[in-house]
Amino acid sequence: MKKVLLTGGAGFIAHHVIRHFLKNTDWEIVSLDRLDYSGNLNRIADMMNEFDFKDQKRVRIVYHDLRAEVNQMLSADLGQFDYILHLAASSHVDRSIDNPMEFVQDNVVATCNILNFARFQKNLERFIYFSTDEVFGPAPLGVNYKERDRYNSTNPYSATKAGGEELAVAFENSYHMPIYITHTMNVFGERQHPEKYIPMTIRNVRDDKLVTIHSDETRTTPGSRHYIHASDVADGCLFLLNNPNKVQELPNDFGGAKCPKFNLVGPVEWNNLELAQKIARAQNKELKYRLVDFHSSRPGHDLRYALDGDLMQNIGWKPKVSPDERINQVVSWTLDNVRWLNL
Ligand SMILES: NC(=O)c1ccc[n+]([C@@H]2O[C@H](COP(=O)([O-])OP(=O)(O)OC[C@H]3O[C@@H](n4cnc5c(N)ncnc54)[C@H](O)[C@@H]3O)[C@@H](O)[C@H]2O)c1
Repeated sequence: MKKVLLTGGAGFIAHHVIRHFLKNTDWEIVSLDRLDYSGNLNRIADMMNEFDFKDQKRVRIVYHDLRAEVNQMLSADLGQFDYILHLAASSHVDRSIDNPMEFVQDNVVATCNILNFARFQKNLERFIYFSTDEVFGPAPLGVNYKERDRYNSTNPYSATKAGGEELAVAFENSYHMPIYITHTMNVFGERQHPEKYIPMTIRNVRDDKLVTIHSDETRTTPGSRHYIHASDVADGCLFLLNNPNKVQELPNDFGGAKCPKFNLVGPVEWNNLELAQKIARAQNKELKYRLVDFHSSRPGHDLRYALDGDLMQNIGWKPKVSPDERINQVVSWTLDNVRWLNL
C-alpha cells in the first residue's frame, strides 16, 4: 500500500485531494498542516463523514508549521512516503501585499524545509509542488501561458510561489529528486474559504445583495479566468502519479530543463459577470451587480489570467465533469451546508 504526505491538508484544495485519494486509491494519507486562518480541520472531519471507519483510519493528521525544519523527531514520526504533495502555502494576494515577508517564510522557506525532508526519503517516487498561474502575471487577450513561458510576478504572493518553484527545480537538479510542478488557477469547490469570489457570490445572491464584479478601468470589460473544481485538480494529480511513463515519453524541448511542469486548467474561460450569472441562475435568483475598476480597488490583482491546458490533454487527461455542472453542484451543496458560508 502506498503512503502519501499532503502538506496543507486542512486547506481547501488539499482536503479535496484527500477525498479523491480516499475514493480512488487504497493509500494511507498523512496531512501536515499548521492550521492558520485558512486551514480548518473541520473541513477534513466534515468531508470524512462520507467514508466508513476503515477508510477514515487511512488518514492521519499531523501538526507542524513548515517555517521550521522537519526535525529528526518529527521525521522519524512521519516515516517514509511514496509520494509527497506540497500544497501548504499562504495564498491570499492582498495579505501578501501587506506582509510580503510572511509569504517568503510560508512559500519559500517552508518549501525548502519540506524539500529537505523529501531529500532523505528512501523510496520517494514523486514530489509535486503546487504552483499557480499567477507566476506568469496578467495574460493579454488571446494569450494562454504554456508551462515554460516567462514569469512576471505582479505581487509578492506570485513571486514567492515562483521562488518555491525554482527551489523545486534546483532540488531536482542538485539531488536528482523525482519532482513535478503543477500550475493551477482559480480552483473552486465545496468548503472553500468564504472570502473567495464564488462562495462570496453565492452568499450575496442568496441574500439579495449587490455583487461586485471586477472589471477594467472603463467598467465595461469584466476580468476573466479559467475555473476548475478542486476534485478535478486532485484527479489530474492522481493521473500524473499513476502515469509516469506518459510523462517520460514527452520530448524535452526546453533546452534540457529538468522538472516537468503541468498546467492543470479548466476547459473554458468565464468572465466574472458570466460566472455570477451562472451562480444566480443556479439559485433561481436575479443577479444584482455593479462593475468596479479593479485597479483602484485591488492593487496587485490582474484583469485576466490564462493557462494553456494542451500538455495535459496530449498525455491523456482532462476534467471529466463540465464546469457548468460543477458550478451547479457547488451552489446546491453550499446552500444545503450554509455553515461553510459564515465568515
Ligand atoms: N485556490 C486556488 O485557486 C489556487 C490556485 C493556484 C494555486 N494554488 C496553490 O494551491 C495550494 C493550496 O491552495 P488552497 O487554496 O487550498 O490554500 P488554503 O489557504 O486553503 O490552504 C493552505 C493550507 O496551508 C497551511 N499552511 C500555510 N502555511 C503553512 C506552513 N508554514 N506550515 C504548515 N502549513 C501551512 C494552512 O494552514 C492551510 O491549511 C497553495 O500552494 C496555492 O498556492 C491555489
